[in-house]
Amino acid sequence: MSPLIDTFGRVHTNLRISVTDRCNIRCFYCMPAEDVQFMDRKELLTFEEIEHFVRVAVPLGLRKIRLTGGEPLVRRDLHVLVRKLAAIPEIEDIGLTTNGILLADQAQGLYDAGLRRINISLDALDPAKFEKITRRQGYDQVIAGINAAQAVGFHPVKVNAVAVRGLTEDEIVPFGHFARKTGVDIRFIEFMPLDADNAWQREKVLFAHEILETLSREIMPLVPCPDQDPHAPASEFQFADGLGRIGIIASVSRPFCMSCDRFRITADGKLRNCLFSLEETDVKAMLRSDAPDSAIAQAIRDSIAAKKEGHEINTARFIQPARPMYSIGG
Ligand code: 5AD
Ligand code: SF4
Repeated sequence: MSPLIDTFGRVHTNLRISVTDRCNIRCFYCMPAEDVQFMDRKELLTFEEIEHFVRVAVPLGLRKIRLTGGEPLVRRDLHVLVRKLAAIPEIEDIGLTTNGILLADQAQGLYDAGLRRINISLDALDPAKFEKITRRQGYDQVIAGINAAQAVGFHPVKVNAVAVRGLTEDEIVPFGHFARKTGVDIRFIEFMPLDADNAWQREKVLFAHEILETLSREIMPLVPCPDQDPHAPASEFQFADGLGRIGIIASVSRPFCMSCDRFRITADGKLRNCLFSLEETDVKAMLRSDAPDSAIAQAIRDSIAAKKEGHEINTARFIQPARPMYSIGG
């Protein structure tokens, strides 16, 4: 079968699966503060339905999976899904993006089920700032989750830190030292317009080059890492003495859409060809009406074929998707 190739020649091998839109914290760049309207539980794809979808996508070239949310660890028995997906021989790589709050308890079970790569979202090493950003408590649990992930043997362990102007400048240098001390990779992500409150402004983006300049000036020069994955959104650097890895995801200042190999399925079974797409395909309806696998495969092909060139954040044409980040899956 031919690969999932779009009209810009991009081959899609990488699926992000959101397993829930629920979350135990309320990061301002993603969720509203209160009164979140979560999906009805029966709208969520079951683990069997997710596995079915993945098994249809594998012959089309799917090789890598990342589980996201909301917060994926609030979905009960997530390790059961990991085990099902890890049993598919063509799947080379399964990752998880979590806020880390529930990770200390679940790290061993996830590792035993076959998960190997883990990204933990933590935007501030200062506990007061953590609470300001997440509007909840939980800092100590996240740190415990990071420690547990390393102790259990996950490699690499990465921390995702959203960079926001006027808020997280003071976190850059402490994160640099944290990377050097712990061996955890720190990845700074430019703040994107996916917040539920629609409060994003370009002025609030702390740009990649500013972060690199600060680290190089205050700690020591950063050099690009060899052997970078050309499809990875992050540009990887290390400090000149080889200690401490820093990734930069310049989603706004340097869009990487032309090397994108990703597609997504939301927790309620909607296929999306882009984080920012305004259209989606109802795969759940197909899975629940016993549509033939060939029809599901065709729906995936059609979605990829319709993929736009890239996001238009930097243009006046930009329209923020109706779904905020927590209901798309990061
Ligand atoms: N801009 C940038 N990154 C975001 N994330 C969530 N919302 C945004 C946003 N508006 C991050 C999360 C998580 C990753 C999947 O995406 O912090 O680490
Ligand atoms: Fe929860 Fe992640 Fe959204 Fe923060 S960014 S509120 S951790 S889903």
